[in-house]
Amino acid sequence: MDFTIHPVTWHDGEPLLRAVREAVFMREQGVSAELEWDGLDEGSHHVLALSNTGQAIGCGRILPNAHIGRIAVIPEWRGKKVGTAILEGLLAYAASQHCPEVDVDAQVQVLPFYQRLGFVEEGDVFMDANIPHRKMRLKL
Ligand SMILES: CC(C)(COP(=O)(O)OP(=O)(O)OC[C@H]1O[C@@H](n2cnc3c(N)ncnc32)[C@H](O)[C@@H]1OP(=O)(O)O)[C@@H](O)C(=O)NCCC(=O)NCCS
Repeated sequence: MDFTIHPVTWHDGEPLLRAVREAVFMREQGVSAELEWDGLDEGSHHVLALSNTGQAIGCGRILPNAHIGRIAVIPEWRGKKVGTAILEGLLAYAASQHCPEVDVDAQVQVLPFYQRLGFVEEGDVFMDANIPHRKMRLKL
């Protein structure tokens, strides 16, 4: 494997987590700073993916209420299972906290990414940051 996955606090990982999210959500997807930095990072558990050369290549977070979000992989590293490893890291953390289930607001174009790990869609499509989303849930 040419990358590694690390659990990090916001306190320790902030610069690298910010760099990935600024590249993917803000510059690539056009999400505003106001929506991206929602004040929930300090209280969340984060996962950071690093290349073997130490570059930050992906991230994700889980809130205390077991809501998973902010999963991002920089474009050059997509399709190499980095996102899957991040999601698995977040699910392992949720299991360690004895969460009965987790949920995610998935961008509709990546529903298959979550379906592969057993997430099931519920409810209608809704807009968040001008991007269509659907709620998905996974029982642990
Ligand atoms: C979604 C994202 C995190 C996936 O990361 P990744 O490392 O490329 O994903 P993986 O390599 O682990 O993909 C595993 C599987 O998920 C599915 N998948 C991944 N990206 C997909 C996409 N864009 N569309 C449809 N299916 C996708 C595929 O089935 C893939 O398996 P395959 O490569 O054998 O076909 C990444 O594309 C990304 O950062 N996108 C921009 C930000 C974003 O949309 N985040 C999700 C917010 S809900």
